[in-house]
Amino acid sequence: MDKKGQTIQQQSPRCRLVLFPLPLQGHINPMIQLANILHHKGFNISIIHTKYNFPNLSKYPHFTLYLIPDGLSESEASTTDIILLLKLLNEKCVEPFLDCLARLLSDDADDPIPCIITDAIWYFTQAVADNLNVPRIVLRTSSVGSLLAFAALPLLQDKGYLSWKNSEMDAPVVEFPPLKVKDIPTIETRNEEGPSQVIANMVEQTKKASGLIFNTFKELEEPEFDKLREQFLIPTFAIGPFHKYFSASAGSIWTQDRTSISWLDIQAPKSVIYVSFGSIAEMHEEKLNEVAWGLANSAQPFLWVVRPGLVNGSECLEILSKELLEAINRRGYIVKWAPQQEVLSHPATGGFWTHSGWNSTLESICEGVPTICSPFFGDQMVNSRYVNDIWKVGIMLEKGLERVEIESAIQKLMVGKEGEDMRKNITCMKEKIDLCLKPRGSSYQSLDNLVDFISSFRSPV
Ligand code: UDX
Repeated sequence: MDKKGQTIQQQSPRCRLVLFPLPLQGHINPMIQLANILHHKGFNISIIHTKYNFPNLSKYPHFTLYLIPDGLSESEASTTDIILLLKLLNEKCVEPFLDCLARLLSDDADDPIPCIITDAIWYFTQAVADNLNVPRIVLRTSSVGSLLAFAALPLLQDKGYLSWKNSEMDAPVVEFPPLKVKDIPTIETRNEEGPSQVIANMVEQTKKASGLIFNTFKELEEPEFDKLREQFLIPTFAIGPFHKYFSASAGSIWTQDRTSISWLDIQAPKSVIYVSFGSIAEMHEEKLNEVAWGLANSAQPFLWVVRPGLVNGSECLEILSKELLEAINRRGYIVKWAPQQEVLSHPATGGFWTHSGWNSTLESICEGVPTICSPFFGDQMVNSRYVNDIWKVGIMLEKGLERVEIESAIQKLMVGKEGEDMRKNITCMKEKIDLCLKPRGSSYQSLDNLVDFISSFRSPV
């Protein structure tokens, strides 16, 4: 048993797995957690990582690390255009990854490598794996629902949804309930061909993989798994939530400010709304202003993560007026990066205003903390809709970032009847999570199936 009481059987080492995380915080965390889970199942672990965003992995001395050059120039590495970045990484990492993996495979006599595990967005790795004759298992770090929505984009484009006018954004997508037009997971980009090719590559190369791992659990997305099986004809393994297996946090790119915990220690139980929009989201100055006024007017204490770059070109809140800064400082505590899982499990935390990245969504469900959802792009739109409409454990800000709606949502969540109902729903879900990780639980069994599946691969020649 680990510190959190989950049962994970340690077995004797048998062979080496090579894992390749996508170098973004929301993808590094689940891959490192998966590596740790598989290590405790008896596998030796090698991680290949780009120089770009190399995380602090000092807590994992038992992993062997291989750093590969990513070929990004300084300006490419600092781009905020996520699609362009993913496209460049998938082009520039081919040779360094191929060289590194070929070396590891040629030197694996004592420690055979049955397969590699790479993020779904590393779509180029399928061709490399085929070329080197080693099976590739994909880790998709977000929900099943969002992968299905990405896979449906060509259909939704054909139906004309992507060119609907702003006034029609609240209309339902009849082919894809519960989505509304505004929830279709598009991503803004300056890339000439738009986001569609990168997304299509991710979907198509995942379909060609030998297996597919999800950081989710069966009970959360049962109907979505049924649909997935019709489209992705490969074995799938829902073994999440990953972070519940061990209490250690995964590889952080930034330093977590622990003063946030001392500040929470002196707040009343369930009184604080924690606010964080993850590691990539960006907003315009006027939206930051709305967020700040919404928080200040809500009359609730809040812990707010303002990451450098949240507003492009600004370090923190220096762009806000003196009057607003004073209002914020009366009830708020601001940090650049927080130990999020600890914050969510702190008794003072009563709600989480999030961008609905998948890790944040799962982490909040696991701690029984209901959310306010402000999705920015991609899978976050789908996750938010599920939280609001299907799981009913959060409130989506339907008008975007607007101070009156923000203030009212915070009130509803923290002190209203709606918040109480959501807390009941989320407590039910939390109980399901506890069960799914225990022996005979769905994730526990799925993990055993994954171990057997990996062990069934013969080592490549
Ligand atoms: C990105 C995408 O935005 C998201 O939609 C996708 O599902 C994964 O990749 P990100 O924006 O970083 O992820 O969000 P999220 O998935 O929530 O991951 C953020 C991670 O950073 C979480 O594990 C969270 O615990 C951690 N975090 C966040 C911190 O440790 N400290 C913070 O202050 C904020």
